[in-house]
Amino acid sequence: MRREWAALPGTVVTEIAERVGGIIDVRPALTGNHAEIASSVVGTSGMVFVKAATTGLSVQTLRYELAATGAVDRFPPAVLWHFERDGWLVVGAELLDGPHPDLSPGSPDLDLLQVTLKALQGKSAPPGTWFTPAGRLGFALPEMQGRTLVHSDINPTNLILTANGLRVVDWAWTTEAASWVELALLVQWLIGSGHSPAQAEEWLGQFPAWTSVGRDTLDAFAAMNAAKWAVKAEQSADGWVHDLAAWTCAWAKHRSAAG
Ligand SMILES: Nc1ncnc2c1ncn2[C@@H]1O[C@H](COP(=O)(O)OP(=O)(O)OP(=O)(O)O)[C@@H](O)[C@H]1O
Ligand SMILES: [Mg+2]
Repeated sequence: MRREWAALPGTVVTEIAERVGGIIDVRPALTGNHAEIASSVVGTSGMVFVKAATTGLSVQTLRYELAATGAVDRFPPAVLWHFERDGWLVVGAELLDGPHPDLSPGSPDLDLLQVTLKALQGKSAPPGTWFTPAGRLGFALPEMQGRTLVHSDINPTNLILTANGLRVVDWAWTTEAASWVELALLVQWLIGSGHSPAQAEEWLGQFPAWTSVGRDTLDAFAAMNAAKWAVKAEQSADGWVHDLAAWTCAWAKHRSAAG
């Protein structure tokens, strides 16, 4: 859960300052909420995006992020430096500049996303420890098991449209799974961006990993994902949780009606 920059011990801030030539300004990220610290830092020698963690799951996911960004070419922000000090893991990454893409039906940004996903699809997970489908999502099917590296949180806020192309941030939830799982987890965000469930599925039909997965498997995935978010929505007043519950429910209803 996000914390203030002031939560960082002075020793950690000093180490960051040394790496940026003295801190001029710190701008907390406006989107996302899981990382404890996620801020743009302006220093005399340039700008950097800093993520830092000190508690269990936060540290674990930041380690996954560090490993994944080192394993995937081109799309993640480059890691400039990282260190551990006084119980904090701190990562300084390339600061990406640009808006989040528009994933609504007919948006040209969808073509950029298609190119990005095609390039990312099918990358084998390098040896290491990654989330399993059950560990990441809280549910699993045998068909979700696989050997590919799945970002698992491709949504507009984790995509940045730079002058040099679409980039993907927030590799904290990287999972070793079947490649169709990446696409199945995108359905909710396509629906949230204005697609009907049928339009979302039609757009995903251009990916071989999508067309090769069985109907029953997708039916079961959609139902389990919707059930999970329905439970979360009962326990939370957060708007984003209720949005995800509505979008995953819309997909599950569409699939059960089609079946
Ligand atoms: N390298 C970067 N350059 C510029 N902006 C970034 C960078 N990395 C992340 N961001 C921005 O900061 C936001 C928060 O970062 P990130 O998504 O990595 O953290 P998070 O809190 O774990 O997110 P979530 O709650 O989605 O899991 C992102 O939505 C993105 O807008
Ligand atoms: Mg994020």
